[in-house]
Amino acid sequence: MQAVDAVIRTRLHSDVPLVRQIAEYIVAAGGKRLRPALLLLSAGALGYAGAQRHPLAAVVEFIHTATLLHDDVVDASALRRGKETANAQFGNAASVLVGDFLYSRAFQMMVDVGSMRVMQVLADATNVIAEGEVLQLMNCHNPNLSVAGYLQVVRYKTAKLFEASARLAAILGNARPEVEESLATYGMHLGTAFQIVDDVLDYSGERDQIGKSLGDDLAEGKPTLPLIYAMQFGDAGQSGVVRRALETGGRDAFPEISQAIEATGALQATLDTASAEADLARLALQALPASQYRDALLQLAAFAVDRNF
Ligand code: IPE
Ligand code: IPE
Ligand code: MG
Ligand code: MG
Repeated sequence: MQAVDAVIRTRLHSDVPLVRQIAEYIVAAGGKRLRPALLLLSAGALGYAGAQRHPLAAVVEFIHTATLLHDDVVDASALRRGKETANAQFGNAASVLVGDFLYSRAFQMMVDVGSMRVMQVLADATNVIAEGEVLQLMNCHNPNLSVAGYLQVVRYKTAKLFEASARLAAILGNARPEVEESLATYGMHLGTAFQIVDDVLDYSGERDQIGKSLGDDLAEGKPTLPLIYAMQFGDAGQSGVVRRALETGGRDAFPEISQAIEATGALQATLDTASAEADLARLALQALPASQYRDALLQLAAFAVDRNF
């Protein structure tokens, strides 16, 4: 991970001062670096220790960071990684443009790896993430979104990059096709569990732990799983409150909605759904030989659900 960080630092460079300033602002704030960790652990589980794993892990983190810069603009978010968001600090225009810089820097770096399959996987993942964010935009303020419709957004906007990170390790490690698919399946379920829990933390997390403001999803009228379940499980009064809050958006109903999510059992049901995804992720790892890397990947699946940050 230190080697990945060194690549990140070097490749953030730009002669344009504002690019450097904003890119360093968000990268220096840290973040969990889960996607690079996933790539490195998957590579380790396959016995691959080649030099290309570090730049590729940095590529994945750059793509992730670019999506965060754009995501915080569209979600009008004010806090990220415990600091003011780049959009709050430097404005929407600068955030969007530096997001583009990070995307395109990631593309320069992946070309250097010199593998057509690597480029294909990353080009597809980046494209699907964009589709997921647009799909989510179309679903805003729709209280009738199904669980399947919600899960499609999650698979596209978040799980796809986890899937790609694990798959890239398999490609680097020249894994057999079944092993590559197993790792990709692991990443997909891990990312799904991870985003479902992110949607729980948006209501029930601690601001200082998650480093983000609570209630951003409600403010944008996002029909996330806790709300879908609260409408399913709640009585007419509780369902109506959630439905109206989704239709109007804003933060006014946040205390009441958080309470309803807890009281109807929607919070627990959402966590159970995340747990089931984590189980599927662990199951996929049976295709790998036992190792400390596989153990760490198993622990990562548990962390995706148990985490409070
Ligand atoms: C945030 O991802 C966006 C989601 C997919 C929920 P992370 O929670 O991995 O963000 P950082 O990188 O640790 O800040
Ligand atoms: C994040 O979704 C997905 C991407 C960044 C592509 P969210 O909007 O839930 O992420 P946070 O909560 O802002 O980190
Ligand atoms: Mg967001
Ligand atoms: Mg969120």
